[in-house]
Order: sequence, then C-alpha cells, then structure tokens
Amino acid sequence: MTLLDGKKVSNDIKDEIKAEVDAMKANGEKVPHLAAVIVGDDGASLTYVGSKVRACERIGFESTLVKMPHTTSELELLKKIKELNTNDAIDGFIIQLPLPPQIDTQKVLMAVDPSKDVDGFHPENFGKMALDMSTFIPATPFGILELLERYDVDTKGKHTVVIGRSHIVGRPMSILMSRKGWPGNSTVTLTHSNTKNISQITTQADIIISALGVPNFLKAEMVKDDVVVIDVGITRVPDEDHPKGYVIRGDVDFEAVSEKASFITPVPGGVGPMTIAMLLKNTLLAREQRRAL
Ligand code: GUN
Repeated sequence: MTLLDGKKVSNDIKDEIKAEVDAMKANGEKVPHLAAVIVGDDGASLTYVGSKVRACERIGFESTLVKMPHTTSELELLKKIKELNTNDAIDGFIIQLPLPPQIDTQKVLMAVDPSKDVDGFHPENFGKMALDMSTFIPATPFGILELLERYDVDTKGKHTVVIGRSHIVGRPMSILMSRKGWPGNSTVTLTHSNTKNISQITTQADIIISALGVPNFLKAEMVKDDVVVIDVGITRVPDEDHPKGYVIRGDVDFEAVSEKASFITPVPGGVGPMTIAMLLKNTLLAREQRRAL
C-alpha cells in the first residue's frame, strides 16, 4: 500500500509556486493577490479560509480577507463582489461556501468575474471544464488529479466510482475522470443519496473517490483488493479527549480499508492540503493571464 501524501505533495507544489513568485519579485513584477470572502462565523469555514490566507503569506502572495456578518444581505455581498471584480490589484478571489440561507449561492457565484474565479465555480468556467477547454479547475478535484499524477496512478480504462454529487467535488470529479487524457479515461459511476445497493457498485471499483461527509462510511467489505481510495471527507467529530473538542474524520475506515488498498489518502494530510495548494496554483495562473492582457 502506498500512502498518497497530500501534505508532502502540497508542500512540493507550494515550493514550486514560491520559486515563481520569487522570480516575479526579482523582476520587479506584481505578485499574485488572492482575496477570500467569508460571510458569517461558521468555525470550520473560518478555519479553512484562515489556512488559505496563511498559505498565501507563506509563499509570498498578497492576500485580503473580507469578513462579513451572518446577517449580510444578498445585495451587500453582490456589491462587494463588484468591488473585487473591478479592483485591479486583485488577481483572483473566492467566496467561501456555504453561504447563509438568505443568500442565493448560484446568483452570487454567477456575479464573480470568470477571469478572477479561481475556485472555478462560475458556470462559464464549469462549462469550459466539461468541454475540455483550458480554465480554472475547482481546487479539490484539481488537487485529486495532481495527486494521481504525481504518484503515477493508472486511471485509463479503470472503473472510477465517485460517491457524492456536490457541485464542488463529486460532480466535477466525475466529469474530469471521464475526460480524454491522464488522469482520466476512466469509466465513471457517480453515486449519490438515491443510489441503491452502493456496496455492489463500490466492490466493482478500481478507484473510489468519496466526498460524502459521513465518517467511516466506506468499510473494508465494500472494496476489492488493490483499490485506489481518495477520501475527501473532513467531518468534525466531537471528542472530549482532544484539546479542540473534536477530531477530523474522513469517509473511509482507514485502518481496515488501507489493508486492501494499493493507494490511499489519509485524513488529515491527504486531499485537504492539496485543495489549498491548487487554489494557490489557480491564483498564480490568474496573475499570469492578467499580466498577458
Ligand atoms: N467550501 C468547501 N470547499 C470549498 C471550496 O473549495 N471553495 C469555497 N469557496 N468554499 C468551499
């Protein structure tokens, strides 16, 4: 079994990006600038956004964190997005999800200038991705592709089973794994909450990408020998023995499944750090595209 070490690979990627930023600085060029907008005070979302901003600082990007109260109206958020769209200093920005219920998420994501949409959530960018055109690929799916590539995992002709159809992970992942090229060329099954007999499907899988958010969902008896397992789950499970009061658990029963797997991601230290590295990569790409304008 080989551990797909997202922590190590993400550090390699950050080093590569930092080298490019250092070269930009040496040439007296503007460095990439990422802004992140967070609405409300959800603990997990604040942690993720904090990690994204800290990662920017460590590799020499500029960063701006925009915090808005949970009572923010849709109109106020749309106004903020307009400001970020027209602010030449900002190369790319993200709106951290989920948003409070008074705000229509799709409407907000459609207001982001596609050239600054480093999350790849705008329908224009999502459509380009589905059509194999060059665009911003959503950071988590992009990170999974990068892990498969850097560990030389064979995906051609394999049966990839994706668990979960979210717009952020499951749906784009199902599209990307079926694309021509590598990683891709898989035969993809997208499973979700209405799927019947999911074990019957997962036991046929060569590659399983689980983005469900149910701790310990995928058990050893649900997979075949030599399966490749990508665990996207990051659920906070209360644990009084831990100083934070919770522990992070993935979708996969790691101890048992890793005994059968050929490759597997740990949680934490698998997909999570890759998401941040690929967001930085998209922001670097956004800067390079603006520089060429
Ligand atoms: N919430 C959970 N994952 C993500 C992500 O990748 N981007 C944003 N903006 N919000 C998220």
